[in-house]
Amino acid sequence: MASRYHEVYQGWKHDPLGFWKTAAAEIDWISTSDTIFNPDMGQYGRWFPDWECNTCYNCLDRHVERGRPGQPALIYDSPITGKKASYSYAELLEEVQAMACVLADKGLQKGDRAIIYMPMIPQAVMAMLACARLGVIHSVVFGGFAAHELATRIDDAAPKAIIAASCGIEPGRVIAYKPLIDAAIEQSTKKPSVCLVFQREELAGEMQEGRDFDLGELQAQARAAGRTIAPTPVKASDPLYILYTSGTTGQPKGVVRDNGGHMVALKWTMKNLYDIEPGEVFWAASDVGWVVGHSYICYAPLLHGCTTVVFEGKPVGTPDAGVFWRVVADHGVVSLFTAPTAFRAIRKEDPDGKFIEQYDLSQFRSLFLAGERADPETVNWAIDQLQVPVIDHWWQTETGWCIAGNPLGLGQLPVKPGSPTVPMPGYDVQVLDDLGHVLGTNTLGNIVVKLPLPPGCLPTLWNADKRFFDAYLAEFPGYYKSADAGIIDDDGYVSILARTDDIINVAGHRLSTGGMEEVLACHPDVAECAVIGIADKLKGQLPCGFVVLKAGVERPHEEIEKELVKLVRDRIGPVAAFKIAITVARLPKTRSGKILRGTMRHIADGESYKVPATIDDPAILDEISEALKSHGISV
Ligand code: COA
Ligand code: AMP
Repeated sequence: MASRYHEVYQGWKHDPLGFWKTAAAEIDWISTSDTIFNPDMGQYGRWFPDWECNTCYNCLDRHVERGRPGQPALIYDSPITGKKASYSYAELLEEVQAMACVLADKGLQKGDRAIIYMPMIPQAVMAMLACARLGVIHSVVFGGFAAHELATRIDDAAPKAIIAASCGIEPGRVIAYKPLIDAAIEQSTKKPSVCLVFQREELAGEMQEGRDFDLGELQAQARAAGRTIAPTPVKASDPLYILYTSGTTGQPKGVVRDNGGHMVALKWTMKNLYDIEPGEVFWAASDVGWVVGHSYICYAPLLHGCTTVVFEGKPVGTPDAGVFWRVVADHGVVSLFTAPTAFRAIRKEDPDGKFIEQYDLSQFRSLFLAGERADPETVNWAIDQLQVPVIDHWWQTETGWCIAGNPLGLGQLPVKPGSPTVPMPGYDVQVLDDLGHVLGTNTLGNIVVKLPLPPGCLPTLWNADKRFFDAYLAEFPGYYKSADAGIIDDDGYVSILARTDDIINVAGHRLSTGGMEEVLACHPDVAECAVIGIADKLKGQLPCGFVVLKAGVERPHEEIEKELVKLVRDRIGPVAAFKIAITVARLPKTRSGKILRGTMRHIADGESYKVPATIDDPAILDEISEALKSHGISV
């Protein structure tokens, strides 16, 4: 079948407002108006500005009212605990209403914020939807972040409540969340008044009288009493959630997502990009703490009337590299969405696909990869093993949905390994040089999106309009700066090759090297430091920190290096995967004092490089090379 992509993309370009008006017809609105987009509102305009809606209603109630009450809405599969559960749309609505009643009882109202700190359990999705039902703005914090990171987010969002679970479970260890939450609240200046804790049987949390409440118990009481609560009407442009993501400093950016545009865009993607029909099972093997989890574990599959899977496990080791295929077969998953790193892990353990052969994957139609560059080797292995389309697609926390992809629902375009294919309708993607001139095809430059961004993308950063403008709009007037570098080829295919800032991508997780440097600099023995991302076969990149010690420090370097590793783990969290700290005598710099991080990265990755003309002392590069070798990194 010839792809309809070009026709649809041109249709959007010709009449963008008409395109999104048609897409908006898929959503149930409380009220609408003639204004699809107001260019004068906000930072670059606002979508559906005075339309009214409720996201939870669109995810649940309307499916219960219109023929899907008994269809599974959410399947929980937890190989790490051995538990499984399934909730029909009617049951999920009942649970969400009960949880929303609990939140309302604790005084949460439209516009209030609630931080959700939960592992991959159904209650995490229920909490998101319960907030959405009340117009409460949720902010989910990934469980792999430490107390300090949680505290930073509490201070920025000023939540009225924290909705949490008592623990998370990682292979070989149970992580007590409650002490982390208590420490975060202790450190924060904007203390939430309520903490609702879902007590898991693996480890209960200690409760603080007056502030902490047993969420499961209260929810069960509300459910037993048959309590319901109506969805609160919100404006399409009201925030649905804030999701913090790494910026160039230790202060994360609070990406704001609105209600209306978000629903319109996500609903459009389910059929047109992912080629999924309502009623089918869609599985995003990510975490609700990341944008992929927000969009494709929680919201999009439910908006589309699909069954979503909440998977609490790892691609390998829970119990083996066959678990993804077991879940796909058990639940009739038609499409899986995950990060390339998960596939690299599976391939390493099961290179010949022996596990894949053991399961009935006859319903499985497609694999989508995102979160980091999908290396052609991994993509080709997956195609060989699975015999289904393997689709790399590029997006960011900021956009909330795919910028460039291969729209299966419009008819698959030819795959060019290494490229996430073409811009989706809504995105006019261009490549600019550093001065803002449009570059020709096949020329490496800054990837930007011509404003306005489509529905679903961030309208601003939470309480930080200026930071939003400075970070994304200021450098290239009229464009959104993606901070990714890449090329567009003669066929319009986009390739994303590197970040233009100091963000690194570790196992599909986006991390700030600047944030890690801030932590290292806190160590009393450290005079200066630099963190770079070095290539890693499994995780894509790994952080590597170089430190110069203060004069007169005579303790063994290994001891200090261990302390630095622990410091980053304690402050940022295990997710930073910071395990390499290297003491050096000096850092390579330009004559004006700028640390040559790029050159250090080339050395660590064994790539050829030119010694920068402005370097202060080229001999330092050899010292860096030696230091890396002495830490077992071949250069
Ligand atoms: N809570 C607490 N700790 C967590 C956590 C969580 N939710 N998630 C991860 N961690 C910990 C891990 O246990 C690990 O700790 P360790 O240093 O003690 O081993 C550390 O954070 C690093 O985690 P990660 O980089 O995810 O590695 P991993 O060992 O857990 O998993 C793979 C490795 C190979 C399986 C990994 O490729 C993977 O699948 N990652 C998830 C990819 C993903 O979902 N990305 C989201 C974008 S789509
Ligand atoms: P996050 O905001 O965590 O989703 O990370 C977004 C960043 O991950 C992007 O800016 C890219 O650098 C990278 N990224 C995500 N998807 C892809 C992809 N398909 N190909 C290349 N890089 C990607």
